[in-house]
Amino acid sequence: MSVLTGDDHVEILISETEITARVNQLAKQISESYPDTEQLVVVGLLRGSFIFIADLVRRLNLPVEVDFMTVSSYGDSTVSSRQVKILKDLETNIHNRDVLVVEDIIDTGYTLAQVLKIMQTRGPSSLSVCTLLNKPSRREVEVDIRWTGFDIPDEFVIGYGIDYAQQGRNLPHIGFVQKSAQ
Ligand code: IMP
Ligand code: MG
Repeated sequence: MSVLTGDDHVEILISETEITARVNQLAKQISESYPDTEQLVVVGLLRGSFIFIADLVRRLNLPVEVDFMTVSSYGDSTVSSRQVKILKDLETNIHNRDVLVVEDIIDTGYTLAQVLKIMQTRGPSSLSVCTLLNKPSRREVEVDIRWTGFDIPDEFVIGYGIDYAQQGRNLPHIGFVQKSAQ
């Protein structure tokens, strides 16, 4: 069943032009932050980050390696028991490497906190985070985010790789769904 059919309307929150401009700025800042890296390992968390990472790495003025990880967040009855399961692990050995984790959205922070904990055990020489979107008002776990594209309000967003029930990833902008009154 489709959630985006009928009269559901996607309200634009961040336009394609605004995304492009911000990705350019982030890429410049990131490039300047690794003057001595041999090769930066850019890790995309699938699936939501796939378009962002594709645009970002093409603008990095650095030698890069790209790898992906798929994690699934699932919760038990209480928030504090939330765990992250690795569905697809990295193929790269990140020991003694500069690692940049690229995320689509940081919401409660649970997913990223767990991912960083796992990666830290593998001994990278540096570990930083770049997220396209951040919902600060939703944070439950403190995570250190080095680069943020946009802080957004507590709205459920789609587009530019980000989905709602596997829909909306191919939208060129970021928007939120206005459900039609039925
Ligand atoms: P967290 O563990 O609560 O920080 O969850 C972050 C993950 O939840 C993101 O990587 C997304 O996959 C998903 N998520 C959070 N907010 C949204 C949203 O507004 N739209 C689509 N996915 C979201
Ligand atoms: Mg995600």
